[in-house]
Amino acid sequence: MTTEASSCEGTASGKVILFGEHAVVYAVPGIAAGIDRGARAKATRAASGERSSLLMSGRTLTPDEDSDHARAFRALLTVEPSCMGVHVEASADVPPGGGLGCSAALGVAIARAVESATFGDTPDEARVLERALAWERVFHGNPSGIDTAAAIAGTFLLYERGAGTKPLTPPYDVWLAVGYSGASASTKQMVEGIARIKDRNPDLFDKFLSGVRAIVENARLALEAGDGRALGQLMDMNQMLLAGVLLSTEAIEKMCAIARSTGALGAKLTGSGGGGSVIALGGICPRGERRSAAEELAVRIAAAWSDAGFAAFPTRIHGSHNDGATSLESPGQ
Ligand code: MEV
Repeated sequence: MTTEASSCEGTASGKVILFGEHAVVYAVPGIAAGIDRGARAKATRAASGERSSLLMSGRTLTPDEDSDHARAFRALLTVEPSCMGVHVEASADVPPGGGLGCSAALGVAIARAVESATFGDTPDEARVLERALAWERVFHGNPSGIDTAAAIAGTFLLYERGAGTKPLTPPYDVWLAVGYSGASASTKQMVEGIARIKDRNPDLFDKFLSGVRAIVENARLALEAGDGRALGQLMDMNQMLLAGVLLSTEAIEKMCAIARSTGALGAKLTGSGGGGSVIALGGICPRGERRSAAEELAVRIAAAWSDAGFAAFPTRIHGSHNDGATSLESPGQ
């Protein structure tokens, strides 16, 4: 239970998009997964008459200020029923603009913390989703909702705009290397750039969408069958399509080449592209297996990227059903 003096915590996962970024904005399904890095927040009820505040990156802001973070905080708090009257501290351990869902993870962690501080007990996850989407719209204008869905679920999911989230529960774990290209990218700008390509060249764009749709459908089957080789090839194909609509960069291509020459089963950008992060597949192993060849390869790829000057880490996506994974409709998406 919440008292005025106690503080309530909220956490959320960062994410990788395995397949379908950008196409997901146009209601093509995408596959994403939460990773074990993300964001956390702590909220305390404000004394009566005090304004709400948010402390992040050493700076305190209030919801009436004129900055994106202040507007996003206000949007999150004023989803009905309002959560005005809270002091929040939040931090993330994924880089902002790094393609790993930093802002969505912050939105979900803050929403969970303020819901608990205001209403007590376990946060209402449907309202957490609404609050976190309200936050995300301020930064990204037209988000598909996949980043927020992955931040909430923390595991594999199939996401379709308008239809919501379906947890995927393959009997396998997936080992990835995740590396940062060194340049941050604005998701809003990249999404707007893709909208311009769609307007200028609708035929090319339709081919992009139908190519991605086929890749996502095959990737779902490969994941369920534990077919790492097929999954890797599909990642390479998705990367080619993303490069075809100008989302890749020299650094991303260099990282994909390093990963493949180290033995990766496949590699692609993840998230908005134009910078951000790259994922490479080390392999698939039975759930919970210790010291698998998939893990060793993911560790080697991350080391090869680090040697070439790209910050990187290996990560395991757990295929087991996660009780926190919720099947949610996405409101108004
Ligand atoms: C960003 O992580 C994913 C995009 O598809 C945008 C979105 O889905 O909102 C590029």
